[in-house]
Amino acid sequence: MPTPSARFRPNAFIHGADYNPEQWRHVPGIWDADMALIKKAKLNGVTLGIFAWAELEPEEGVYHFEWMDEIMDRLHANGQRVILATPSGAKPNWMAANYPEICRVSEDGRREHQGHRHNHCVTSPVYRAKVHQLNTLLAQRYGQHPALLAWHVSNEYGGYCYCDLCKAAFRDWLKAKYVTLEALNNAWWSRFWSHTYTDWSQIDWLDDSIHGLRLDWKRFMTHQVASFIRNEVAPLRTHSPHIPVTANFMGGYDYYDYTTLAAEIDFISWDSYPTWHGQAGEQSPPWRVGLEPTFYHDQFRTMKPDEPMLLIETTPSQVNWNGLSPLKRPGMHRTSSLLGVSRGSQGVCYFQFRSSRGSSEKFHGTVVSHDGRDDTRVFRDVRDLGTLFEKLAPALGSLPRSQVAVLYDYPNSWALREMQSPAGSVVNHRETCLQHYTPLWQRGLSVDVPDQAADLSRYKLLIAPQLHLLLPGTAERLIAFVEDGGILVTTYLTGYVNETDLCFLGGFPGPLRELLGIRIEEMDALPAFRKVPVKATAANSVGLSGTWEARDICELIHAESAEVLATYDGEFYAGMPAVTRKKTGRGAAYHIAARLGGDFIETLTSAILREAGIAEPFGGLLPVGVTAQSRVSPDGTQWLFLMNFNETSATVDLGSDVWQNIETPGASCRHIELPAFGSFIFTHSPA
Ligand code: GLA
Ligand code: ZN
Repeated sequence: MPTPSARFRPNAFIHGADYNPEQWRHVPGIWDADMALIKKAKLNGVTLGIFAWAELEPEEGVYHFEWMDEIMDRLHANGQRVILATPSGAKPNWMAANYPEICRVSEDGRREHQGHRHNHCVTSPVYRAKVHQLNTLLAQRYGQHPALLAWHVSNEYGGYCYCDLCKAAFRDWLKAKYVTLEALNNAWWSRFWSHTYTDWSQIDWLDDSIHGLRLDWKRFMTHQVASFIRNEVAPLRTHSPHIPVTANFMGGYDYYDYTTLAAEIDFISWDSYPTWHGQAGEQSPPWRVGLEPTFYHDQFRTMKPDEPMLLIETTPSQVNWNGLSPLKRPGMHRTSSLLGVSRGSQGVCYFQFRSSRGSSEKFHGTVVSHDGRDDTRVFRDVRDLGTLFEKLAPALGSLPRSQVAVLYDYPNSWALREMQSPAGSVVNHRETCLQHYTPLWQRGLSVDVPDQAADLSRYKLLIAPQLHLLLPGTAERLIAFVEDGGILVTTYLTGYVNETDLCFLGGFPGPLRELLGIRIEEMDALPAFRKVPVKATAANSVGLSGTWEARDICELIHAESAEVLATYDGEFYAGMPAVTRKKTGRGAAYHIAARLGGDFIETLTSAILREAGIAEPFGGLLPVGVTAQSRVSPDGTQWLFLMNFNETSATVDLGSDVWQNIETPGASCRHIELPAFGSFIFTHSPA
């Protein structure tokens, strides 16, 4: 894990918002009103300048910083810290007109029109130079400003560019990686369909028949964005080495390997916009929505597990881009915000402070709407959260601590998507991770979400769903993990391909065969009408008992040195192993050969938690739709966040009355009645 160059250690929980005063420069009185409203909303921070390039440099080389000078000073006098953005997420019109090469080229080879945002070429030397130049001026001017808290580079880096510059850079990257075409042809298995490359110029990044090429394209784009960030960040670090740098990531976004990008910044922040109360066609219960953002919180926190992160964008009410987006119900603003804080966020910020009067997001939820009022429901919700953050100040410096991890890996997810497997739609890394994550969420257990290159020795239990692609060294590290006492769980589709998507010869799960003690012979794919019964074996060593149903996919495996915990009880493969366990050293590795439902995963979860020696904080499952998470301060003080994502109230037994509610100290806290969408924070200091 790279050491951050400057640490993010704010002296308060950040309660902030994207603030875009440049949109209102021509409207008298608004800035005065903003200052009063920002204060009244109990915001102690703002993110400034994200899309301000055209207002900072209206013509090439002509700069107007006066307005930003004034705003920085006003915010400082008003008591706010500033997260100052670099504006590279949206390029000014004059620049696109003068330098068409900065506009992205789409897959079909067409140069995109100027307009929208997040659509510059990441390779263009001109754009990189322009960004570097403006960032230098910003850093020289504001790097020592007392209001400056952090740098926010660009906005939601995203997408691919297929211009000639990017193509040439891709070929150079490939040359550096493979040196010879012979090595590349071997690594990509390009002789299939006669696509052997005899000249570097023949490489066509859009050929989706060559899976190794597709993986390398994504790795290259990740590399290119990382170097774009490095170029952006360099002047910031030169002129303000003490100020930490962040970039706002997106949950579930996997065009790039975010773990690689994380190494370029000092702390992670991310943007979270769940439609909490359902969307068009929504079938799941409302609480189910909470799972996915929690998973992303955990994933982003794990990228720098000893650093706080920041939930840098949320909406205080609804979004405008999701077709249908209900208002946040009473309680949900607080509860959804605390979800982020409980998982390690150093605060909560909004997009955006004041509703834009026109253009794309004018009906996106904000702190201050077009009515300009401070007596609205949303404004009160925001202000109340500010009050709560003040009470939470003693929890600064605390972080979640996890002994359990669910492994999500970007290249693995790419490979599964390219796989073209007979089992089609079950090949979904994130969904399968969530399936295993659910019973942990329901137990209020702290979970990390590392990738396969992370330090796994931190954990006692590692669930690695669909770990299809194994990077060099991963098998060795998993073996060491189990030998040292770790409990590992793998599932169907594990250990099929290497880093360039070539299948392991000699049988799957490739280099994990000995550790799992199994050999995979075939994979059956089940249409929706076919389910295969699975039953536990008699007197298995972990006391697993019951019968379940497999759907979608059943691997036909042989237990070579593993104990069989459950077998198929139907189809021509009745009696073959469906769940196995093999002990190695002080630990054990489980393999689940078929897609089994939540009932099985629940049963297995209690067994493996027991075996890994992990205490269940609430002695079992919390009421459905309720979750909990604790943060631990360096002195051992615990901060327990209890959150109800149901439309109805729920009762939780904390198991002891040592807990103090931070908002009503002194009251006894054992049996807690959580109102609909309600949340509480409790604390407990070590004796
Ligand atoms: C993203 C962007 C913001 C804004 C919000 C709206 O997260 O970063 O600029 O567009 O979405 O939800
Ligand atoms: Zn390009």
